[in-house]
Amino acid sequence: TRPVLLDCDPGIDDMVAILTAVASPEVELVGVTTVGGNVGIDTTTRNALDVLALAGRADIPVARGADRPYLRSLDSRAASVHGDNGLGGITLPTSGTAPVDATALELIVATVRAATEPVTLVATGPLTNVAHLFAVHPDVASRLARLVVMGGSIGAGNRTPAAEFNIWADPEAAYRVLTEPGLPRPVPTTLVGLDVTYRTAYGPDDLRRLRSGGGVASLCADALEHYLSAYRRDHGMDVVPLHDPLAMAEAIRPGLVTARPAYVEVDTTTGPSRGNTLVDLRGVLGQPTVEVAVDVDVPSALEFISGRLEFRQG
Ligand code: BDR
Ligand code: CA
Repeated sequence: TRPVLLDCDPGIDDMVAILTAVASPEVELVGVTTVGGNVGIDTTTRNALDVLALAGRADIPVARGADRPYLRSLDSRAASVHGDNGLGGITLPTSGTAPVDATALELIVATVRAATEPVTLVATGPLTNVAHLFAVHPDVASRLARLVVMGGSIGAGNRTPAAEFNIWADPEAAYRVLTEPGLPRPVPTTLVGLDVTYRTAYGPDDLRRLRSGGGVASLCADALEHYLSAYRRDHGMDVVPLHDPLAMAEAIRPGLVTARPAYVEVDTTTGPSRGNTLVDLRGVLGQPTVEVAVDVDVPSALEFISGRLEFRQG
C-alpha cells in the first residue's frame, strides 16, 4: 500500500475524495491536512474530522492549515456552492475528535520524513499549504513520490470566466507550486483540471443509484444533490462534476487520466484573468513544469469512484 496525504477544504467533493481514499486498499491515507477554501478553516477542519470518524477512521491524523491565502486576502468563499456548513447542509454525526497538535505544514513534513516509502500528496483545495511546503521545506517536497492537484483548466474557469476555484482562491500559492516550483528535485506533478473533471460527472440517475446503496453512499448522494443544484443554477449543467474524487482516484489508480507535459503559467495579476492557468502544451513559453490532464477514461473513473463509495456502506 502506497502512503497518501490529502490536503483539502471539505467541501462536498473533498468529502467524497476522503471516503474514496479510505475505501481503497491500494493506498494508505496517512494524514489529512486542511486549508481554508470552500468555507473557513474551522469548518473545513471540523468536516475532515467528522468525515473520517464517520468512515471509522478517526485514527487518521488531521492537522489544521492556513486559513488565509499565501499573499493577498480572500474576499469570498464558496458557501453558495457547498452550503454554509461546507457539506451541502447534510448533518454528520458530531465526532468530538480533535486535530493533532501540529500545523498542516508540520504534519506533512513529519509524515514525509517518517515514511518508509515516498508519499503521494493529493491537493484538493487552494494550494496555500503546499506552497508553504515548497517555500519552507523544498528538500521535503522533493521527496514526494507525486503531487496530484485538483485545480485549473485549459479552457474556461468555474469561479470566473478565466479561473477555476482552487487556483482563483490563492493564485500566488498556485504560481509557487505550478509555475516556479524551485525544488532541488522536481516533483512529478499532475494537474487534474476542469477539462477532465467536468466530464467525470454524476447525473440524477447516478445519484439515485448511489443513494440506494444506503449508509455513506447515500450521505454522499444527499450532499452531491446540493452540489448538483448549484451547478444547475450557476452553469446550467444537469450533472455534478466529481472534481476532487477524480484527483484522488488518479492518485490511487494512476492512468485514469491521460496527462501531457506542459508549462503552466498561473496568472497572479489583479485583473479579470487572475487565477487563470495558461497551459502551454507546446513549450513555447517555457520548459514543462507539470503534467496536465487532457483526457480521462470516464466510464472507468466513474465506476472506480462509485465502487469505492458503495463498498463503504458505513
Ligand atoms: C474545486 O473547487 C471546490 O469548490 C471543489 O471542492 C473543488 O476542489 C472545483 O473547482
Ligand atoms: Ca475542494
